[in-house]
Order: sequence, then C-alpha cells, then structure tokens
Amino acid sequence: MLSLHMRWNRMVDTAITNGRVVTERAVTDADVGITDGRITAITAPGTLHTTATDVIDAAGRLVLPGFIDSHVHVNLELGEYTTTDEMSDLTRAAAHGGVTTVIPFAVPDRDESPLAALDRRREEAAGDAYVDYSFHGCLTEATETSLAQVPELIDRGATSIKAFMVYEDRLMLDNGALRDVMDRTADAGGTMLVHAEDNAIIGRLIERHREQGDMAYDAHADTHPPVSETAAMWTVSELVAESECPTLLVHASARRTEEIATHAERNDLPLAVETCPHYLALTDEVYGRDDGEAFVCSPPVRSNEHREALMEMVSSSRVAVVNSDHCGYTMSQKRRHRDDITRMPNGLPGVETTGPVLYTEAVTGGAASVRQFVRLMSTNVAKLFGLYPEKGTIVVGSDADIVIFDPDEEWTVEPESLHMATDYSPFQGRSVTGRAETVLVRGERVVDEELVGKPTVGEYRHRTPGSTGRHYREL
Ligand code: URP
Ligand code: ZN
Ligand code: ZN
Repeated sequence: MLSLHMRWNRMVDTAITNGRVVTERAVTDADVGITDGRITAITAPGTLHTTATDVIDAAGRLVLPGFIDSHVHVNLELGEYTTTDEMSDLTRAAAHGGVTTVIPFAVPDRDESPLAALDRRREEAAGDAYVDYSFHGCLTEATETSLAQVPELIDRGATSIKAFMVYEDRLMLDNGALRDVMDRTADAGGTMLVHAEDNAIIGRLIERHREQGDMAYDAHADTHPPVSETAAMWTVSELVAESECPTLLVHASARRTEEIATHAERNDLPLAVETCPHYLALTDEVYGRDDGEAFVCSPPVRSNEHREALMEMVSSSRVAVVNSDHCGYTMSQKRRHRDDITRMPNGLPGVETTGPVLYTEAVTGGAASVRQFVRLMSTNVAKLFGLYPEKGTIVVGSDADIVIFDPDEEWTVEPESLHMATDYSPFQGRSVTGRAETVLVRGERVVDEELVGKPTVGEYRHRTPGSTGRHYREL
C-alpha cells in the first residue's frame, strides 16, 4: 500500500483525482496533489478536488510515474547517415508517448573530446526540450586524455558512460580499451552502458556474404547471429566481475542472455539487462518482407524462440529496463542501400511507442504486472542512472512527472498519428492497448490529448551516481 499523506493546511496547484496510482511497490486508488512541480499530497480518492486550482479527473485511468527512456539517439552520425531528430523532435515525440525524461548519448564527433561533446549537447538542448533530459558520456577511444575526462563527466552530471564493441570505423572500443574505460568509470563512481556484439565474428560473416554477393538487408540477421551478441556479453560480464563497475547491457535480443543475467545474480555482479520493444514484439520474419530493410537494427530482431525467452526474462525481472533505442531514420534512408548491409543505417524509431507496445505485449499479454511495467519503464531506469527518487516513482517529494494512461484504449499504430521525425514505425499497422492521455513534467501539462507544452519545459538533470544495479528483483 502507498501511505497517504496530506498537508491539510495547504492548497495544491493541481489535483489528479480518482485515478489508480501505480508505483514500483503498490497499486492504490488515490488522489495526487502537486505544488510547485512536486508531489505534495497523496490522499484517499475523491478528497483533493476542493483544494486545487486545477483538477484532472483520472477516473478509469492509471496514474503512472513518467517513463524514462535512457537509450535514445539524437544527431547520431554513423556512416553516411545522421538520425533525423533534434532534441525538440525527440522530446515532443517522447512526451506523446508518456516519456518525461530522456537520456541521449553525448557521442563525440571525430576529433572532439568526451567533455566537449557533453558541453555541445547541453548547449544544443537548452530551451529545445519538451521533457527533462540528461546525457550519458561516451568514450570512443581509451587514450589517456579521454580516460582522464571520466571523473569530470561524472562531476558534470553525466554519471554513466557508453561504450560500443562494434561500429569499427567510428565508435568501437576493443576489449582492452573497454577494460580501461570500465576500470576508470568504476573508480570514479560511474555506471557503464555497453553495446555488446563481437566485431570479429560479425566481420568474418560479412566477408563471407560479400564473397557470395549476398549483402542485401535479409543477410543482416545471418551476419549478426546470437553468439556474436552473447559471446561479447560474457566478456563484459567478466570485466564487470573484475572492475565491479555497475553496467547495463543494452538492447539484449538473444535467449542466452538469461544465463548471463542469472550468473550475474548468483555472483552478486552489478550487471543489469536492457531490452527493447522490437525484440519483444517482432520476430525475424520481418526480414523476409519486401520492406524488411525498415527493421534493420543491431542486434537484429530474432526468431520467436528468442522473443519468448526475452519475455520470460521480463516476467522474472531478469530484464531490468525496457528502452526504445530510438533512431530517427526515414524509410528513404533505410532504402537507399538496402542491397548493402554495411552501408545501411542501423536502428529503429520508437521513443513514442515503447509504452503502448510494452503494455500490450507484457501487461495485456499476461507476462508482467502493471507494477513490473512501471519498474521497467521508469523506476529501474531512475535507480540505475541516479534519478531516483526524484524521478521514477510517485511519492510525496518526488517530481510531478506523471502519465495519465488509459489502459483500455485500443488503437492502431500509424506513422501519420505519431510525432517522431520519421515517416514509418516498425509497429505500423499493429493494434495496441493503452495510451498516454495526459503527461505532466514537474507538474506542467505537456500533452493533454495533444501537445500543450513548450520546448522550454525540459530541464537538464544533473545526475548523481546511481545504484549498483544489483537488486532489481527485490524491488
Ligand atoms: O541498430 C541500432 N541499435 N542502432 C543504434 C545505435 C546502437 O547500436 O545503439
Ligand atoms: Zn547499440
Ligand atoms: Zn542504441
């Protein structure tokens, strides 16, 4: 049960009445009062409306902590392409999907330092965000100059550092470099996010396909097999054991991730697993479609056996977070080099659709409770990345980042009704259940059926070092 709190001698600015309040711990029918952007009252249902200037009737709705998406790409330049969205595009779409905080990556440009990349991203985002934001630092080389900047990144609020084990020409760290970055991040009290795929396994398979003239989009999954992912994840697991660096394995797609998560749990390693909605809702039959290039991402969407195993990991809380891995590419960008997987842009748009797709697949589908949904979409991300309890929950004192979610609304995903800077969705044509109706960022309405907020609402969140990622299952 939530404990109910109210300062009876005070009016509240906004009252959300008669909703079903869901946190990581409890589901309670309650009213929620907001003053100066924070939650100041949680009371019995139907008791707050007389004390508020602004009343939102949430009868029949879920009142959820705002979703936090800690895996979104903005202005990502890879190969010939740059993703399409600016911060305003990304955060507008995020708000429509119930996401009230995003954490993109401050990927350095060529010849730019990690700190300069963070400063540049912060400048670009200031006044251009509909929801709150922070940034992950990113190291694309492990020179002494870059490594020396890790403590300063953490001091400036970018307490998490991203590393890629692939994208050789631009982002990749080899195992030795990764080990140094993890050691340095652990020493400075930070957290790592790692894209784990084995570049050598993938590289040889691509060369073989090239020799056979078989390089079109339908070769993507064959050249990125499950073993290329899990082999790299085991390497990361060993590096976590050595460094004790809290680490999130991002975008897990393969069934044997379960063994890595179980090993981490048994050995008390601070290693957590993220997956994405496309790995839970789609299977590799998409690569047999004529528009299969639209679904090319790394790692690829896999067979139903893998999808089911990941859903089981969601059920058993071995998946800690579900994020979009949003990449705003358009269909024409995806199509241009559909016959050459080494030139196609990897990644799928999705910041706006994660909530409804996960709700449909996991909650309506019976694999997860609504409290688990909240942990996956909000609480665990906030804990891992140093935002909790200001964000990621609904308690007196936390930021009033709230999604009023209609759990019964059925709708069909169509690109025209979405707001991402792209012209397609990997989920287009699918029927989903659940929709973010009203979205508040620190008490301010940003979406009320339609966009009502401004790009000046979002603020930079200076984060503090997060939890170790060990204890998700006990939440
Ligand atoms: O295919 C993907 N996931 N593209 C985005 C960059 C990354 O690897 O996260
Ligand atoms: Zn990645
Ligand atoms: Zn990504």
